[in-house]
Amino acid sequence: MINILTDKDADESALNGKTIAVIGYGSQGNAQANCLKDSGVSVIIGETEVLGDKPNPSWEKAKADGFEVYEIDEAAKKADIIHILVPDEYQAGVYKKQIKKHMKAGKTLSFSHGFNICFKRIAPPAEIDVIMIAPKAPGSEERKQYLEGFGVPGLIAIKQNASGQARNVALALAKAMHWTRAGVLECTFEQETYEDLFGEQAVLCGGVTELVKAGFDTLVEAGYPPEMAYFECLHELKLIVDLMYKGGFTEMWKAVSNTAKYGGLTRGKKIITDKTRKVMKKMLKDVESGKFAKEWAKECKNGKPVLTKLQQEDFDHPIETVGKEIRALFNKK
Ligand code: NAI
Ligand code: MG
Repeated sequence: MINILTDKDADESALNGKTIAVIGYGSQGNAQANCLKDSGVSVIIGETEVLGDKPNPSWEKAKADGFEVYEIDEAAKKADIIHILVPDEYQAGVYKKQIKKHMKAGKTLSFSHGFNICFKRIAPPAEIDVIMIAPKAPGSEERKQYLEGFGVPGLIAIKQNASGQARNVALALAKAMHWTRAGVLECTFEQETYEDLFGEQAVLCGGVTELVKAGFDTLVEAGYPPEMAYFECLHELKLIVDLMYKGGFTEMWKAVSNTAKYGGLTRGKKIITDKTRKVMKKMLKDVESGKFAKEWAKECKNGKPVLTKLQQEDFDHPIETVGKEIRALFNKK
C-alpha cells in the first residue's frame, strides 16, 4: 500500500532560515501563500505587475493581503524555494525568462502539478532540488479547511534531491499547510501528472459533464420539463456524490431506495460499457505517451480556439439557463 504521511512524519524545522517565493497569486498561490504565512513560514510573492498590457489584479491582491510582492525574476533571486503556481501552460515561458538564471545549487524548484517536469517542458539543472507539493482540492477549499483547523489531503513527489533535504522540505511545506493533518501520499511526478490528467478528462470534468448533459437532453427531448430534468440530473448528483464522499459506494447504495439500487445496478453498466472502458484506456495511453500534452501545447500556441469554442457551447447549453433560474430561487434568503 502507498505510504500515507501524517504530522508525525514531517518536521517544519526543515524550513528554518528559508524563504519561499510563491510565483503566481491565483487560486492555489493565494491559498498556499496565506496558509504558509499563517504557519510562520517566510513567504514572498512573485507576480507580474502588468499581465498582457493590463494591470494584474493578483499583484494588487497580494499586496493588499500584506505580502512582499516582487516581479518574478526578483522573487526567484531572493528566495530559497521557488514554488511555481502560474497556470501550467505559462510555466515553461515564465521559467525560461525569469527563473532559470537563478537556479543555482541550494535552490529548490517546486510545483503543485507535475505537467511541465513530466513532459520535459522545464528541464532544471541537476544541482537544484525539484519537488512537488500538490493539494487534492481547489484553493478555496484548502484555505477554508486550514482556517477551520484541519487540512486537505495532498501529494508530495521528489524529482531531484541534490541537497539531500528535498523530501524533508516537501514534507515541511505540506505540514505547514496542514495537509499532513488529513494525510499526504508520496508518489512520483509521473503518477501525479498522468492520474490528474486522466481523472479530469475521463471522470471529473469531462466524464461527469457529458453524463449530466446526456441525461438532461434525453429527458427534455422526450418532453419532460427542463426544471425537473435539472433537478434529476445535476442537482441530485451532489447528494449522491456527498454520500460516496462520506462512506463510499456502500453508504450510497444503502441510502437510496431498493428500486434505485436495482435500476442503477442493472442499468449503469449499459452506459459505461466495455467500449467506454476501452476509450478510457486509450485516453490514459495518450496522456502517458505525451500525445495529449503535445495537442494541448499546440492548442495554447494557436490561442486556444478549440477550448474557447467548446467552453462556450457548455455555457450556452439549455441546462445552464434553467440552472441559473433554479439556483436563484434557492439562493433567495
Ligand atoms: P490561476 O490561474 O488561478 O493563477 C494564476 C496566477 O498566475 C494569476 O494570479 C496570474 O497573476 C498569474 N499568471 C497568469 N498568467 C501568467 C503569465 N502568463 N505570466 C505570469 N503570471 C501569470 O492558477 P491555479 O489554478 O492556481 O494553478 C496554479 C498551479 O496549481 C497549476 O500548476 C495547477 O495545475 C496547480 N493546481 C491547481 C489546482 C486548482 O484548484 N486550481 C489544484 C491543484 C493544483
Ligand atoms: Mg488537474
